Amino acid sequence: MIFDGKTVAAKILQTLEEENAALRETYGRVPCLGVVLVGEDYGSVRYVASCERNAKRAGLDCKVVRLPENSREEEVLSVIRSLNEDKDVDGILVQMPLPKHISQERIVQTIRPEKDVDGVTDANVSQLWKQRRNDYSLFCVSCTPRSVMRILKEADIDLDGKNAVVIGRSNIVGMPVSKLLMNENATVTVCHSHTKELPAILRKADIIVAAIGKPKFVGADMVREGAVVVDVGINTDPATGKMCGDVDTDAVADRCRLITPVPGGVGQLTICSLMENTMDCFKRLRHG
Ligand SMILES: NC(=O)c1ccc[n+]([C@@H]2O[C@H](COP(=O)([O-])OP(=O)(O)OC[C@H]3O[C@@H](n4cnc5c(N)ncnc54)[C@H](OP(=O)(O)O)[C@@H]3O)[C@@H](O)[C@H]2O)c1
Repeated sequence: MIFDGKTVAAKILQTLEEENAALRETYGRVPCLGVVLVGEDYGSVRYVASCERNAKRAGLDCKVVRLPENSREEEVLSVIRSLNEDKDVDGILVQMPLPKHISQERIVQTIRPEKDVDGVTDANVSQLWKQRRNDYSLFCVSCTPRSVMRILKEADIDLDGKNAVVIGRSNIVGMPVSKLLMNENATVTVCHSHTKELPAILRKADIIVAAIGKPKFVGADMVREGAVVVDVGINTDPATGKMCGDVDTDAVADRCRLITPVPGGVGQLTICSLMENTMDCFKRLRHG
């Protein structure tokens, strides 16, 4: 089965829109996502436009602060501090990558943890590693890992006692998704560029989450019959120039119980998770 991210995302956004209409009734306004975009990186500009479009579909407000590429770090920090203080902004997303002269770490750690919609501040990372269950109302979890878990839930995949293999150990995808899977009682193996015998490890997996950044890296010889494959990768296929994932979907799909396509899979749901995280921040800021 090929996961239909577009249809599932439309359903989620519709539900969020209804919930936001109710929040407006109760609180006099809807949650607001503040996005900081520095420079004009092509992928970032497109992603921020998609945030604005989908916030509208979900019935949320979205305020984008656009800064020039040559902005000084202090100017970016000052924008974040003012969003931290702004009572009409509930979530803050700083679009990455930042220009090289700006410290990503200093920027990220300046975000108020209660408004950290991508779960990147030390406070939220620490919460994730402490919590033994996935309750997203308690703290912010990165959007992409949250969307991976949503896909597995939508597809009714039981994770308890299953072998899950995550390829990639980045702070934004691989590491948080491995903890979320562990919290659902999967037995998790995290692989990376130094892992030996990767194909053999993958062939034992009930669930594979690929977050590598290498086009069509996972081939048919690495996936066992009946596996669930979640492809997080966003790459350009050197042969066609088109977008593709980390998994060779055409070669693998037939043997999978479920596979997520690229485009139309994880990416679709990541934006929904961003909206959900903003709403969770709104609620936490009001009710603790
Ligand atoms: N759909 C979405 O919403 C979404 C969101 C975020 C990212 N992405 C995409 O997901 C992919 C991963 O993103 P990221 O930010 O996690 O990337 P990243 O920070 O570059 O991490 C890549 C990971 O893959 C591992 N890796 C590289 N080559 C490998 C190999 N040959 N065998 C096994 N592991 C290998 C690296 O290992 P080492 O640690 O040893 O270097 C690293 O841990 C990218 O394509 C990105 O565009 C998609």
